[in-house]
Amino acid sequence: MAIILGLESSCDDSAAALVTSDRRILAQAVVGQTQAHQPYGGVVPEIAARAHVEILPKLVEQVLGDANISVGDVDAVAATAGPGLIGGVMVALLAGKGLALAARKPLIAVNHLEGHALSPRLVNPDLGFPYLLLLVSGGHCQLLEVRGVGEYRRLATTIDDAAGEAFDKAAKLLGLPYPGGPAIEALARDGDSNAVPLPRPLVGSGEPHFSFAGLKSAVQRAVASGEFRPDDVAASFQQAVVDCLVDRTRVALGRSNAPALVVAGGVAANQAIRAALSALATTEGRRFSIPPAWLCTDNAAMIAWAGAERFAAGLVDSLDAPARARWPLDASAEKVRGAGVKA
Ligand code: KG4
Ligand code: ZN
Repeated sequence: MAIILGLESSCDDSAAALVTSDRRILAQAVVGQTQAHQPYGGVVPEIAARAHVEILPKLVEQVLGDANISVGDVDAVAATAGPGLIGGVMVALLAGKGLALAARKPLIAVNHLEGHALSPRLVNPDLGFPYLLLLVSGGHCQLLEVRGVGEYRRLATTIDDAAGEAFDKAAKLLGLPYPGGPAIEALARDGDSNAVPLPRPLVGSGEPHFSFAGLKSAVQRAVASGEFRPDDVAASFQQAVVDCLVDRTRVALGRSNAPALVVAGGVAANQAIRAALSALATTEGRRFSIPPAWLCTDNAAMIAWAGAERFAAGLVDSLDAPARARWPLDASAEKVRGAGVKA
């Protein structure tokens, strides 16, 4: 049994966790920065990086205290090394290097996306490889076949915005606070999802890629027209995203024999999205697995767990491991045409 210390700071959550190779979470702590970024309607990279510098060391102290161990008792230190906002990424990575160096323990430089991708296996011991993963967060919207630790085949990505980004932008247009996903979901409960005609970009296309920029523009026009109730806009927008995710995932399932469909990332906290994808898995004859909401949004337990999986496979890194703003899980995936292609 190995104990892994995980560190995360790639976006706007500072997090530390202690996880064992036999799937026990000894301690974990996450501190978000929602309030610091709320006035700007999105994450301000420099504010985020400075906050990580202040918060992260205290979280390391806290989880070690909660688990009643010292850093000398851990078997490896796993830190997110990208992709993400580079100033933030450097905080966890350098903290991890310092701890690894001082305690003479191996460093594991974890790809944040691998953290999300392997997170379902932390809570579901029965989930074996391969599985088809829909990764939907603020920064990413991808369909990946997870074949093993470090083995990914990307089937689709977004040609413009990520799904969470679309929620955040639509929320801003509706005057809702950041992060937009939970705010839209709450407002949508009272709305009519058929009230506002909105497009479903790329639905019906043979390639399973995503696009949300046109949907955001349509929401902008609907709000500007003054013709629709905000709850109807929220419900119609959410339904449009659900329809896009379901259609694109169906196409990807047609290209993968993986017996299970897994959804991860912050947007997977959305109940309507969870229900629709669960139904799709049933129709397509695949098992369905989705981590609990706390494990879907950014956290360090998933980084520690990815570290545990890599450690078990003998994959450790040297102290000169780079911090990366971009770091695709499938380096061989073709670039897709689009305005702002995400990793
Ligand atoms: O994975 P995550 O915590 O951070 C990134 O790596 O991006 O995802 C955050 C994203 C935000 O865009 C947020 O609006 C979205 O996840 N989100 C949701 C919900 N909760 C969080 N989107 C839709 N419905 C939700 N309930
Ligand atoms: Zn994330």
